[in-house]
Amino acid sequence: MKAIEIRNKYLNFFKNHGHKVIKSASLIPENDPSVLFTTAGMHPLVPYLLGEKHPEGTRLTDYQKCLRTVDIDEVGDNRHLTYFEMLGNWSLGDYFKEESIQMSFDFLTKELNIPVSKLSVTCFGGDNDAPRDEISANCWKKAGIPEDRIYFFGKDDNWWIAGEEGPCGPDTEIFYDTGKEKCSENCNPSCDCGKYVEIWNNVFMEYFKNSDGTYSKLKQKNVDTGLGLERMAMLLQGKETPFDIELFKPVMDELKEKSKIDDINSRRIVAEHLRASIMVVNDGGRPSNVDRGYILRRLIRRMTRHLTKLGIELEYLESLIEISIDSLKEMYPELLENKEIIKNVIVEEKNKFVKTLKNGEREFEKALNNIKSKGENKIGAEVVFNLYETYGFPPEMTVELAKENNVEVNLEDFDKMFKEHQEKSRMGNDKKFKGGLAEQNEMTIKYHTATHLLHKALQIVLGEHAVQKGSNITSERLRFDFANPQKVTKEQLEQVEKIVNEQIQRKLDVVCEEMSLEEAKKSGAMGLFESKYGEKVKVYTIGDFSKEICGGPHVKNTSELGT
Ligand code: ALA
Repeated sequence: MKAIEIRNKYLNFFKNHGHKVIKSASLIPENDPSVLFTTAGMHPLVPYLLGEKHPEGTRLTDYQKCLRTVDIDEVGDNRHLTYFEMLGNWSLGDYFKEESIQMSFDFLTKELNIPVSKLSVTCFGGDNDAPRDEISANCWKKAGIPEDRIYFFGKDDNWWIAGEEGPCGPDTEIFYDTGKEKCSENCNPSCDCGKYVEIWNNVFMEYFKNSDGTYSKLKQKNVDTGLGLERMAMLLQGKETPFDIELFKPVMDELKEKSKIDDINSRRIVAEHLRASIMVVNDGGRPSNVDRGYILRRLIRRMTRHLTKLGIELEYLESLIEISIDSLKEMYPELLENKEIIKNVIVEEKNKFVKTLKNGEREFEKALNNIKSKGENKIGAEVVFNLYETYGFPPEMTVELAKENNVEVNLEDFDKMFKEHQEKSRMGNDKKFKGGLAEQNEMTIKYHTATHLLHKALQIVLGEHAVQKGSNITSERLRFDFANPQKVTKEQLEQVEKIVNEQIQRKLDVVCEEMSLEEAKKSGAMGLFESKYGEKVKVYTIGDFSKEICGGPHVKNTSELGT
């Protein structure tokens, strides 16, 4: 079964079980510069998991484009991907364990026709924070999974949370038995040997992990599930790796034909990073030196390096993009519209990297002459690190050049420096993820309402062109992005401030109504980020002052805001 057929079957199945199909959010979290990329289907739904009402109801399903970069250096083996598609279904305070498990079981065994004998499941074994999940285990038994294929594990295996803080809960994971020999007598689904492949994760989100590490109960019991599409397609097609399915195969074949050396890892890296880069650029990502732009840059650079390693002319990159888009266009028709942009962005970045490589080589020469003049024979770790950090010059290329010049490289110390550097950036990324996802409290809700007042005030003072381009809210402050042809003057800012404070003092009620996008526009609501919304939208009206399409949440009355 092709990936697109699995996707369609999934969405239809859940539609027939009362779910509304919602659109995939962008890979680049809109309106939220604090998070790098969308990493799970639940990510755009966090406010609704926390209790906010979703305009499409309490049962939702979608496919979500996801990018996870923690394992970027693992790509090249037979399973890791950075970009993948996650199929998901959600209960927002609607059904819980029993119905969720029964639906998963039915979808796998009746729609995808997977024999029950291929399935094993794991449940949460219980600890001080939450009880052993006997309920899920019993639901599995009732559905038809024999007891000896129901396993219990601790938080490491059967508890799901995005980052360190936020909505979370015990999960039950479904595994597919590939039929391989057990690696040992104790081989079980938590084992990494490849016999068992995780295909679906059902998270029973009824907890919230606080920043102090304690857990509270959420307002409602939710279900959040995720099924990895490429992996499922691979299993159903009887393939060994995701690179053998139709989404990668044409590029993989082409790479093999054009390569001067036979290196499957490099071919996978090129195919995977190419697809991920295409998807990120398609959603508006552009290479840069910071945050998500830097991830895109790394993807394109690593791909370029491996193309070179394979001995493929870099001019050939454009054709590879064409082939990749051709394999993906059925899943993502918008790629065809954006094809030229995608090609330009990726090729331009590749060209920059070629220059970087040249600069790096020049710097290497300098370093080489330097140590030779001192009569030394070893390139220091700081040189390798500097080449990497400042010139983007890959350490393995430094090693290669060193070899050619009969000098050694202090790689041990470099590894240490590199690990420290990675740890720092990982911590930075974790923090970002946390900030964007979990922060929803009294203060941020107030800032959110204040943002609407500010938006309207800016339009009054500067003109209707001053629409929202972006917004970011933390507990300490709000930030609002808009475009204006001139620098905003001090007087204008004072006027804006005055208007906002006046509206706060008028003690205006904040009222939420649900309506179709059409009705919302007719009512004069400011419509931001329209494409993101489904059929029905929420409109927040603040007295007679402001009316905006918005997901919320907001305060009840502007008097709650202070000044
Ligand atoms: N949010 C869950 C996951 O990503 C379903 O695995």
